[in-house]
Amino acid sequence: MKMRELDFSIILIISISSICLSHQSSGNWTYSGEHGPENWSGVCKNGNRQSPINIVTDDTVKADLGSLIFTRYDFAYTGTLTNNGHSLQITLSGVPVVLTGGGLTSTYVLEQMHFHWGAEHTIDGVRDALELHLVHYDKQYGNVSIASQSHNGISVVAVLFKLSDDDNEKLYPILKAAEAVSEWVGMSSVEIQRKVIPMQLLPNDRTTFYRYEGSLTTPGCQEAVTWFIMSEKLSISEAQLKVFKSIRTNHGVLKQNYRPTQNIGDRKVYHHLLGYTSSSPTIFVNYLFISMIAFYIILN
Ligand SMILES: *[C@@H]1O[C@H](CO)[C@@H](O)[C@H](O)[C@H]1NC(C)=O
Ligand SMILES: *[C@@H]1O[C@H](CO)[C@@H](O)[C@H](O)[C@H]1NC(C)=O
Ligand SMILES: *[C@@H]1O[C@H](CO)[C@@H](O)[C@H](O)[C@H]1NC(C)=O
Ligand SMILES: [Zn+2]
Repeated sequence: MKMRELDFSIILIISISSICLSHQSSGNWTYSGEHGPENWSGVCKNGNRQSPINIVTDDTVKADLGSLIFTRYDFAYTGTLTNNGHSLQITLSGVPVVLTGGGLTSTYVLEQMHFHWGAEHTIDGVRDALELHLVHYDKQYGNVSIASQSHNGISVVAVLFKLSDDDNEKLYPILKAAEAVSEWVGMSSVEIQRKVIPMQLLPNDRTTFYRYEGSLTTPGCQEAVTWFIMSEKLSISEAQLKVFKSIRTNHGVLKQNYRPTQNIGDRKVYHHLLGYTSSSPTIFVNYLFISMIAFYIILN
């Protein structure tokens, strides 16, 4: 009997705390002022693998983690753009877009993509203009809310956009849709006129990226995320960035929506380099030697 009562109170406590969690993640938080990042509660405040972080490139651990495999990223999807009051978010309909590899031990399904202006992850202290997050959940959990309660239930691919004199043409259909939802406060959605090909929002060189273990960067900041930050950046013009910076929400114009960088603690950041081994020099010499022999044979 005692045991049952104990179970019951534990269940009660868990339900109450998840109500509180969902209350905070339900949207009474902002990027500035009284409800800003300094005052986000729970794991956001007490966690020890929080995101974003500043990546110090000299401190990264070089390794070949295995290539990231982007399945059906090259398909064209009907996309919906939503102004959710914290970001602009794109959801796709149709067959799932899937991420594997990069040291992941499971299959991750793309849930949504959204933008942060300025970038959330900084590299050697430099903050870029924009950061795209492609949010995936581990398929075995069925959906993102269950996955976000599990150790590495979520994986996010982050793409940085640096400021450029020229427009990024790949952003045109998204920005056109953004203009349509920018004045609509509170959960407004519009269909993106041209089909969305997720691959077009990734850099051409996908053979190098940073990986570390962190969290969601919005409340409740669940520590469930394997992060992949692509090394190669895309670009955006000042005029294009202005569209993001003029998005309206219940709290006024969303001038920026990045969370300040968090302590890295004792975490390691890996720098994936395809074909890298710590003994590469020897392999290179062997390779050179074999090539010379091959050359010698061909010549004779
Ligand atoms: C949400 O924020 C507003 C204004 O910042 C505050 O007045 C209100 O009490 C908050 N609501 C809840 C439920 O915390
Ligand atoms: C955090 O909230 C407290 C209490 O509402 C407030 O006094 C404080 O100014 C807030 N912090 C920031 C940085 O706004
Ligand atoms: C996620 O899956 C769980 C378990 O199958 C279900 O109870 C829950 O309603 C789902 N949540 C969403 C947001 O679909
Ligand atoms: Zn994000």
